[in-house]
Amino acid sequence: MTTADLTLFRSRRTIRRFATQDVSEEEIEQLLEAASVAPSRLDRRPLHYVVIRNAMIKAKIAEALRVRPYIEEASVVLAICADPVVSPTWELDGSAAIENILLAATAMGLGAAWVGSKGSQLWEQALGILHQVVSVPAGIAVVSLVCIGHPAESKDPYEAGEKLDPRRIHYDHWDTLKL
Ligand SMILES: Cc1cc2nc3c(=O)[nH]c(=O)nc-3n(C[C@H](O)[C@H](O)[C@H](O)COP(=O)(O)O)c2cc1C
Repeated sequence: MTTADLTLFRSRRTIRRFATQDVSEEEIEQLLEAASVAPSRLDRRPLHYVVIRNAMIKAKIAEALRVRPYIEEASVVLAICADPVVSPTWELDGSAAIENILLAATAMGLGAAWVGSKGSQLWEQALGILHQVVSVPAGIAVVSLVCIGHPAESKDPYEAGEKLDPRRIHYDHWDTLKL
């Protein structure tokens, strides 16, 4: 792999300010295409996607998660959903798809933020909105949300090796002296 090949990965940053310009249907289709080719255990493909553009729904989700203003600013909030009956690894499959979406958005010059995940009361509140207002069926799980829009902030790409901690890399055996 050349240094240039890592540029896209280093450039992917969480963007939390969005301009008013809409993300087009074609762009959303490209992002979903990127998601659709992410790895999926046993090729089960348990994921569903809800494309949320409705301002009232975005406001309800923002209120539930107490995250403002970027959920409301985002042109689209994507809910990454999954059918746990189709695959027990739905969370892992969903995470792989989300990373593909984030990298594709970066490549397209869009901004994106991964928002919300299980383990907090606020997320339970957001799930309530998704089930009640967005009509996500009771048996369908929600992995996370991704806010997408045209960026209204810029962040520097990571420098080469910036997040790579050699103390966390072990060869053949876990090296306790490292940390
Ligand atoms: C599982 C998961 C959940 C996240 N949830 C949120 C969130 O709720 N709100 C948010 O602003 N960012 C969220 N993020 C993004 C992280 O905050 C972000 O990746 C981190 O600060 C590093 O910044 P970077 O993405 O620019 O590298 C989440 C990321 C992951 C992987």
